[in-house]
Amino acid sequence: MNDKDILESKNWLTVWHHYYDPEEKLEQNDPNAICVSSVDTEGMPNGRYVLLKDVSENGFLFYTNLKSQKGKELFGSKKGALTWWSRVQNKSVRVQGSVNQVSDEVANNYWSTRKEDAKISAILSKQSEEVTSRDQLEEEFTKLKVEYAGKEIPRPDHWSGVIISPQKIEFWEATDEYTSRLHNRFVFELQNDQWVTKRLYP
Ligand SMILES: Cc1cc2nc3c(=O)[nH]c(=O)nc-3n(C[C@H](O)[C@H](O)[C@H](O)COP(=O)(O)O)c2cc1C
Repeated sequence: MNDKDILESKNWLTVWHHYYDPEEKLEQNDPNAICVSSVDTEGMPNGRYVLLKDVSENGFLFYTNLKSQKGKELFGSKKGALTWWSRVQNKSVRVQGSVNQVSDEVANNYWSTRKEDAKISAILSKQSEEVTSRDQLEEEFTKLKVEYAGKEIPRPDHWSGVIISPQKIEFWEATDEYTSRLHNRFVFELQNDQWVTKRLYP
């Protein structure tokens, strides 16, 4: 897609695929790492990496503990943001939008693909709360491993998928190796149910 195609497409998902899909071959280690941002009730911002698991018209999906700090903040404000960066392609995408939880069916399907140890750590983790020691963590893990040996490990209700649905999404691209700094920035913004696109100064 050239600049004109991007600005005229009005379809952020097509542009996302144009940016992201090559990354899966170019970056072997976690091409899908994104920084998810939220704000607490005092307006204090917070960011952390998660792994992006799907992108569709509905938005950007990742899995987490809903009782974690991010869970509380994202669902407290119902607003979230995320940022993705590709060093190898000199591209970045940033998103602001609304926050929703996936259905139990979607969460269960994904849960069933997780390895047993990852399920156990999701069950034991009171994510973002204090734990007394590493030993405590490992003891809890070992106990649950024994408890669930040979059994189905159920998905906790508070472990699920979160979707950030874009209201605004920016595609950023360095047109050279950061020498001129004359980067491309294309913004897609939802206005009265219509996607409006524009180019920004870098
Ligand atoms: C590369 C990377 C990927 C991660 N993926 C996830 C993830 O998919 N889900 C998740 O809950 N935490 C993930 N984490 C851990 C989070 O960054 C974070 O430490 C944790 O979710 C607690 O965040 P919170 O206290 O803001 O809720 C990942 C960390 C890194 C560095």
